[in-house]
Amino acid sequence: MGLKVGIIGCGSITRFRHAPEYAANPFVDKLIFYDRNMTRAKDLAAAFDGEYVEQVESLFSDEEIQVISDCSSNEYHEVYSTQALLSGKHVLCEKPISLSIAGANRIIAAQKKSGKKLMVDHNQRFSKAHIKAKEILDKQELGKVLSFKTTFGHSGPENWSVNKSNSTWFFKKDRSGLGVAGDLGIHKIDLIHYLLDDRVTEISAFQGVLDKVDDKGNPIEVADNIVCTLRTKKGCLGTAVFSWTYYGEEDNSTTIYCEKGMIKIYGDADYSLKVITLQGEQILYQIEEIQTNTNQTNSGVIDSFIDSVVHDKKTAVTGEDALNALKVILAILESAENQCIVKVE
Ligand SMILES: NC(=O)c1ccc[n+]([C@@H]2O[C@H](COP(=O)([O-])OP(=O)(O)OC[C@H]3O[C@@H](n4cnc5c(N)ncnc54)[C@H](O)[C@@H]3O)[C@@H](O)[C@H]2O)c1
Repeated sequence: MGLKVGIIGCGSITRFRHAPEYAANPFVDKLIFYDRNMTRAKDLAAAFDGEYVEQVESLFSDEEIQVISDCSSNEYHEVYSTQALLSGKHVLCEKPISLSIAGANRIIAAQKKSGKKLMVDHNQRFSKAHIKAKEILDKQELGKVLSFKTTFGHSGPENWSVNKSNSTWFFKKDRSGLGVAGDLGIHKIDLIHYLLDDRVTEISAFQGVLDKVDDKGNPIEVADNIVCTLRTKKGCLGTAVFSWTYYGEEDNSTTIYCEKGMIKIYGDADYSLKVITLQGEQILYQIEEIQTNTNQTNSGVIDSFIDSVVHDKKTAVTGEDALNALKVILAILESAENQCIVKVE
């Protein structure tokens, strides 16, 4: 008997990533959808040969459901992921794990109490060029990392979110909470932690609402652009830029500068990974492009999560990893708000 999976929230991330990737996983038998917008749950149940429920509690109380994906909007993760874990389900929670450190700690405590698996969808770790870059860095082929720059920008979540309008929850302070930093920035902070095996510990940032307006034409309540300078525990220096106003083309690039050369990731359409040595030699890798809003290939996230459930392994991204990324994002926002340098313990 395969696994029965409950999915909470039937918006874009469920339609384009969770549902198709569970459906393609050989260990998964059935998908059961819930959304407070019942039409969306019904539509996905029909599209993925699944079922739907009218109350979220029906997912928690169904003993045959072993796994839950929490794809609700950000402010609800701490509610649903906590309840799901305490109901004895393994949980894949979307990022950001929570809007607050206390909320993230509640989810992590529920995971410890239940003994079930918890993974958070920091999917940049699974992109092929990032995996290759990590391999090169771990082998110290280019020596020590000295500095880095990372960027994540696209044209904005109103073009992605299921309701495709400027009334999207992504633009609301009480629901998205963290704006572009929590939407895109948190991916890159987790990526830097992962690639460098290090932690961002000091931050200085600027933010702005440069262009986005809500459905009434007023500037949105959260930042649509953030620019940061960062220092890590190991002493690396870096810059990070997050934007919802990169109109025309998405930028998902990262460069790591080391003692004996550099690694350029997702900066060149033909070569997802380029290593350029101190002597000027270029080693070019044609690796699968990263998933974008318009290029939805298998992210590998669901397969990894299900593998950890089926084979009782540690999840590839833990609650603690997600909390560490969230702490940096909160510090970035504090720095931008108060115009000061903020340290993260
Ligand atoms: N890992 C990634 O790359 C990635 C990409 C996009 C979004 N996300 C995350 O996935 C989550 C969902 O984002 P999305 O893009 O699918 O948004 P969306 O706006 O497309 O869809 C959200 C859906 O969840 C439903 N929903 C929200 N709160 C709910 C609640 N309390 N109870 C029941 N249903 C609820 C809404 O009705 C809507 O159908 C967010 O946390 C977002 O940050 C992650």
